[in-house]
Order: sequence, then C-alpha cells, then structure tokens
Amino acid sequence: MLRNGDELRGNSGAIYKVQKRLKEGGMGVIWLAKSSKGFHVILKSPKLNGENDDIKIEKIHIENDFLSNLSHPNIVGYIDTIHHNYYEKRFIIIVMQYIEGERVKEMYWGHPASENEAMLIIVPILNAISYLHSLNIIHRDIKPENILMDGNKPVLIDFGAVRSGYKEAELVIGTPGWAAPEQLNGSAPSPQSDIYSIGALLFYMMTGKEPKTYLLEDGRLTVDPISLNRKMPRKMSEVVKKCLDVNPSFRFLTVTEIRDYLIAGENIDGVYSGVPRIIICGEVVPLVMDSYTIARDRTQGGTGLSNIEILEPGPIFYISRGPPSSGYLHLQKIGYEWFAIDINTGNGIFVLENNQWTRLEKNNPRRLNDGNQICFGYNTTQGPYMPFIYKKY
Ligand SMILES: Nc1ncnc2c1ncn2[C@@H]1O[C@H](COP(=O)(O)OP(=O)(O)O)[C@@H](O)[C@H]1O
Ligand SMILES: [Mg+2]
Repeated sequence: MLRNGDELRGNSGAIYKVQKRLKEGGMGVIWLAKSSKGFHVILKSPKLNGENDDIKIEKIHIENDFLSNLSHPNIVGYIDTIHHNYYEKRFIIIVMQYIEGERVKEMYWGHPASENEAMLIIVPILNAISYLHSLNIIHRDIKPENILMDGNKPVLIDFGAVRSGYKEAELVIGTPGWAAPEQLNGSAPSPQSDIYSIGALLFYMMTGKEPKTYLLEDGRLTVDPISLNRKMPRKMSEVVKKCLDVNPSFRFLTVTEIRDYLIAGENIDGVYSGVPRIIICGEVVPLVMDSYTIARDRTQGGTGLSNIEILEPGPIFYISRGPPSSGYLHLQKIGYEWFAIDINTGNGIFVLENNQWTRLEKNNPRRLNDGNQICFGYNTTQGPYMPFIYKKY
C-alpha cells in the first residue's frame, strides 16, 4: 500500500517520505516517515486487504477528525492529513508526532512499578482522559500499549476506538481484558468504561501482570491486587478494585476524583498516605521526582498567571511553552522534606509566613512547611505575583 521511499503530500503542503513500516494491527498500519520540514513523523493508514476496507477507511477518517481537534500535552500531537489513492480506493492517512520512547506495556511487563513511577505515568494520563471526557469523548481503548513515553512524559495514543455521542466506527468494541464489560457486551459505553480501563492499566503497572488472568468472564476481579505485589500501597489496590467494579455506577464518578484520591486520599485504615504536592494555577502537581524547576516564560514575562511553566525534569503539565527566564525557582527534595531555592530571580521568591511575605535569600534552600504559600515576586501595593501552595499532608 505504501512503500519505503514513497513521497506523500499533506494538506499543509509538507512532503512526507516513507522510511519504514513500524507496526501493523488489525485495522491500521503505522509507518515512520521524514517530513520535508526536517523531523520524523508517524503515518497511520488503514490496512487495506479486501476485508472490511470501507469500514477501515471510515474509521481512520473518524480518528483523524478527533485527533486533529485535540490539544493536550499528554495526547499525541496531530500534524497533518494526507489524501491518498490505492487502486480505486481513496482514503486518508493521519500524520502525527513520532514518540520515540518505550510503551508502558514493555516497561512494566513482569516488573511492577514503584508508587512514584506509577504516579508519574498515571497522573498525566488521568489529566489527558479528564480532558477527553470534558469534551464528551470516550477513548475506549486505554491500555499499556497505547501509552508511549516521550522522555519521562507519558503520551496517550490510538484514537481509533473513540466515541462521542453516536459518532463512532463500526466493528469497534475495545480490547478484552482492558475494556469494561458493558463495552464488550455491546451495552452502553460511557466515561465509566474508560474508568474501568484505568483500573486495568493501574493493575498492570503495579503488578507487572495482565489483569485478564484475574478477571472472570463477566469482568469481575478475582484477586486483591496487593496480594500480587506486597509493596503496592493499599490505597492503590483499593483504587484498582473500585475502578474494576462490574457495575459502572460503583466505580469512581470522574477521572479527576481518581487523580485527587491517589494524590491526597487516606488509606483505608485512616492513615494518611498523600504525596507532597503543589497546587499551581488550579492544577494539583504531585511531587514524585526529586526536583522541579518552575520558571516564568521569558517570551511573555510579566503578564500574569498564564505564564508559569514546569520544566524538566518531570513536566507534569505546562501552561505555556517557551524558554525559561534566566532566574527561576528550584524545588528540591532532601530526605523527606522539600526545599525552595531562588536561583537568581530578578523579582525574588517569597514565602508567606506569619501572614507576611518574606523573601528567600538567593541560592539558599528554605524548607517548606505544609500549606506554605510561595510566590514569584511580591509588591506591597499589588500583592503576590503567581502564588501557589505547597501541601505536605
Ligand atoms: N505516534 C507514535 N509514535 C511512535 N509509535 C507509535 C505512534 N503511534 C503508534 N505507534 C506504535 O504503533 C502501535 C500501534 O498504533 P495504534 O495507533 O495503537 O494502532 P492500532 O489501532 O492498530 O492499535 C503502537 O502500540 C505503537 O507501538
Ligand atoms: Mg493501539
């Protein structure tokens, strides 16, 4: 259908030179190509072999429609659309961002993740799914082979099974062992169906085993996940069980509810087991790496809250892109405590203490206490600039 060396023109005018067939599924083929703009891209084409070709062509169309309208740091980036012919068939090929890293499937097969590793993947993926649900889109195929790592940033791919309202491709019901029972038996899929798959995904990451082995035919879980990995926090095991409830009404109600519970919830025995976190621009960012850099975006500096960016390592989310300003705030974990360090900021980093904003000494770590407010710059008439909160408990 496509051959190495083929040159295809996208709607944008860019030319894509096919380099290699990477993967072939039941419905589509994934190719690596080089854009005339100088970078690698992925081409996703329908797999035309005389079996249900028209359905596959329709399906890739729908996938293209959805992907081209999405924009989220943890969702694979849409780049372009190619209109192509093969014998008498006319169809489209999706051009998307190439993600070089490993799939979650290979990363944790037989190697359970630690709590922190799992949080680094699950929290951003929950953010991505929450974004989809806010647009009335159900993904319907959340599983470890549809999550790729772009450095240490997880990215959700494969919008071939998405559904919004009644708009969906035929023949699509999801993957047994990952999809919710109501999705597989043809009754109404809902956002709750994605929540079931999130439970299956978390089960896989925390046990290194496919949930399928432990599910009855009706989708019921037969094992307490913690019994397969004693290091798994009880709270996570409870989350998995609640997500995998066969009754959609008994699962978590929303994806953000799962996220917030994982970050801040209590264990079943009432013992607190929250992850230290900052709440910045209304986002809850769990501090699961050992250090973070928070900087202003130099290109828009000074215009308000919208230019905070969390940089490597561990960009859990970012609100704007662009080069950081030369001064920034460094958050560093030392032992069990978190410290704030002002690295050469012009306007200073301030912490609220005894109801007063006090300026940090440059390059001198300052231990943070539960509930501390921190800001970039303080002015007696204008107040704090870009404030956020550190929560330890
Ligand atoms: N953007 C991408 N970057 C890198 N690899 C990709 C990308 N998209 C897909 N792949 C690879 O191809 C596989 C199949 O792609 P996917 O979109 O999931 O198709 P299918 O609908 O056949 O499952 C993925 O599991 C992944 O290994
Ligand atoms: Mg897939």
